[in-house]
Amino acid sequence: VLAIWHQLTKSEIPELAKCSVLMKERSRVEETICAMQRAGAGSLQVISDFDMTLTRFAHNGTRVPTTHNILDNRLLIDEDCTKKMRELLNTYYPIEIDAGRTAEEKLPLMVKWWTEVHELLIQQRIRKDMLAKAVKESSAVLRDGYKLFFDHLTEQQVPLMIFSAGVGDVLEEVIRQNHVFYPNVHIISNYMDFDQTGALRAFKGQLIHSFNKREGALSHAAGLRELQGRPNVLLLGDSLGDLTMADGVSEHQNILTIGFLNDKVLGFIPERTKLISTITTPRASPLPFPCPRPPSA
Ligand code: C5P
Ligand code: MG
Repeated sequence: VLAIWHQLTKSEIPELAKCSVLMKERSRVEETICAMQRAGAGSLQVISDFDMTLTRFAHNGTRVPTTHNILDNRLLIDEDCTKKMRELLNTYYPIEIDAGRTAEEKLPLMVKWWTEVHELLIQQRIRKDMLAKAVKESSAVLRDGYKLFFDHLTEQQVPLMIFSAGVGDVLEEVIRQNHVFYPNVHIISNYMDFDQTGALRAFKGQLIHSFNKREGALSHAAGLRELQGRPNVLLLGDSLGDLTMADGVSEHQNILTIGFLNDKVLGFIPERTKLISTITTPRASPLPFPCPRPPSA
C-alpha cells in the first residue's frame, strides 16, 4: 500500500506484480491508479482503519496488541478485568472475522462485545496519566514503511482520516510516540471521558464498532472541511466493515480500496474475500499501463 502511494507520482508500480497482492480486476486497479495520478495529490484523501491496518498484525511471531489490548496492563486494569476481557475476545473475535456470517448477524454481537468491554474499563477507573506509559510498555508496532507513508502525505498536504473502532486516546498516543501525529491527521474513534481526578468515567459520543463505521462516516467524516473537494480516495482496512468508511465522501470519483488479509490466511478463499482490492470507480476508457507521464512544464 505504501509503495502504491509512493509510486502514484511515478509511472511504474512493480509491487502490484507481487503474488501477495490479489486483485479482482487488475485493469480496473490500473485505470484507477492512473486516474488518481492524473488528478494529483490535491484531489486525494486517505481514509484508513487503524488496528491491524496501520498497525501490524504480528511481529516477531506474536500478535501485535490492538488499542483495546494495550490497556491490558497492570498500570490500568486488574487481573480479573484482564481475564474477563480475554474471555470476551475469545468469544467475539472469531465472530467478527467469520466470513460465513453477515454484517447484520454480527452487528448486535459486536455492540455487546464493545459495550461489555467498555463497562469493564470504566469500572477500573483507568487513569489518563498512565496511558502514555502503558503505550510505551506495549508491543504496538506500526506497519513497515509507516514513516514514509505519513511523511509523504503530510508533505503533499493530503488529509489522512483514521477511522477506528479502537480507543482514540490510545491510538493518538501510539502515533504520537511514533512521531507521526501530524496536522493533516484526523481521527474518528471511541474517546474516553475522564472525570476531574483523571479517572475514566465514560466513553464519549456514539459507540463505534467494526460494523457501524458507515454511520460514523456519514455523521463525522462528511463534515470535515479538509476533505471537501477531494473526490479521490485511498481506502485502507482489514475488516469487511471498513469498506463503508468512505460512504461519507459525496461525489467521489475514484476509490482504490485496499484490504489487508491478516488472519485465517491459509483458509483464504478468494471469492469470499470481498475486501481484497475491490475497486469502486466509474469506469473509464482503457489506459495504457504504466500510466503515460504528463507532459513536463
Ligand atoms: O481500528 P479498528 O477499527 O480496526 O479497531 C477495532 C479492532 O479492535 C477490531 O477489529 C477488534 O478485533 C479489536 N477489538 C479488540 N478488543 C475489543 C474490541 C475490539 O481487540 N475489546
Ligand atoms: Mg482493523
